[in-house]
Amino acid sequence: MDYKVRTRLSRILVDDAVEANADITILGWVRTVRVSKSVAFVQINDGSCMGSIQAVVGDPENWPVLQGLLAGASVRVKGKLVPSQGKGQKYELAVDSLEMIGEADATYPLQPKRHTLEFMREVAHLRPRTNTFGAVYRTKSKLAYAVHRFFQEHGFYYIHTPLISTSDCEGAGDLFRVTSLDLDNLPRLEDGKIDWNADFFASEAFLAVSGQLEGELLATALGDIYTFGPTFRAENSNTSRHASEFWMIEPEMAWAELSDNMDLAEEFLKYLFRFALEECADDMAFFNKWIAKDYDLCKMLESVVESKFKRITYTEAIDILNKSGQKFEYPTKWGEDLATEHERYLTEKKFKKPVIVTDYPESFKPFYMRTNDDGKTVAAMDVLVPGVGEIIGGSQREERLDVLNARIKKKGMTDMDNYYWYLDIRKYGSVPHSGFGLGFERAVMYVTGMTNIRDVLTFPRVPRWAKF
Ligand code: 4AD
Ligand code: MG
Repeated sequence: MDYKVRTRLSRILVDDAVEANADITILGWVRTVRVSKSVAFVQINDGSCMGSIQAVVGDPENWPVLQGLLAGASVRVKGKLVPSQGKGQKYELAVDSLEMIGEADATYPLQPKRHTLEFMREVAHLRPRTNTFGAVYRTKSKLAYAVHRFFQEHGFYYIHTPLISTSDCEGAGDLFRVTSLDLDNLPRLEDGKIDWNADFFASEAFLAVSGQLEGELLATALGDIYTFGPTFRAENSNTSRHASEFWMIEPEMAWAELSDNMDLAEEFLKYLFRFALEECADDMAFFNKWIAKDYDLCKMLESVVESKFKRITYTEAIDILNKSGQKFEYPTKWGEDLATEHERYLTEKKFKKPVIVTDYPESFKPFYMRTNDDGKTVAAMDVLVPGVGEIIGGSQREERLDVLNARIKKKGMTDMDNYYWYLDIRKYGSVPHSGFGLGFERAVMYVTGMTNIRDVLTFPRVPRWAKF
């Protein structure tokens, strides 16, 4: 069989690159079959785009293949692309031949009716064949391409950082352990503690929560770098925006202060949003109509691209929250971290657009953030967006060796021998530098209007769920 002769539906329906009356071959999966006495309609989607094509068979009795043809089957259809009389479609396919390649029976879970997103998570192995998930994964692919394009166009080098790590960048302790020790027979030291020296790497090892520390090493050599890779967090938080395995984009710039970092974050996000609007028009129109039901998603993204993000300091944010007259579950107090409800108030109610909050108290921010002149706050930034909350976290890094050492001591980090390499770049030719991490799935949520991170990952890993 010569599969190469197939015409992708995207060539017909998106690119408009196929002439009417062309003889073509379509390979795809059946969405619906409707057979009447005089005519049969078989709707076929091949995944290359949102649109399906209607294959029309003139005299159904003479087509035994139609007997066993059900939703979910894969088919090869040859025919003529003809202008359609039906509403809402430019073309249909006047069928010359129709073969079933792989049958599907009535147990196929994605029968043509509305399914809940919860149900679709149970059939995550098949949900890519639905309109919603096809659109999500296509948009995600385009956005991943846009990430690389943005940074490559801006002179950043793409680097890989280790996924197996012996450090805890964020200091939050949400680490998945990597070990090859026999858990039923652990080697122990005299004091009863586990002898990690006997483990595979002769040390404790974990899946990386961030590539930032290594990213800093590369930025202070190549100038501007970015990572784009998987990240693992054993946070036991069962929310709609936390996953145990997600992808993060981490740019790091030498010779850059917090304001440069904010500028980069804003320009980068706008580039991604514009890219989705321009390059995924069909899928975005679908999200607008069926997913973001109570607001105009495309208009919202367009206005975000056109306007400036709001920038406020943490201290200003606390002030706004205190004066808001809102009743929060967690009261706001200078020195306490912002809770989700506070972030949502700022970005959804107060400013109604993306907000960058800067200069948080040092007490709840990681050791690497640069101490401000007030001695109480650090040059941190979080980007908050309506509906999703925090999508970016970043900072200017502490480049002064003595200040960094003091902060490490204050944080009570006892294993700093492990981090001598991190300190070395402050010892040899230290430079001001800054960077941030964008949670890729959270960006995809914002762009598509999907409200649960489980529905923008292909196969989500969350507490108590690592199926497929
Ligand atoms: O704010 P975070 O923890 O920052 C860092 O990891 C820094 N090392 C980044 C840097 O400066 N290079 O994480 C960055 C972003 C968050 O803003 C959020 O979008 C996403 O990563 N994120 C998660 N996304 C999904 N599931 C989780 N459990 C996430 N944790 C963080
Ligand atoms: Mg954060």
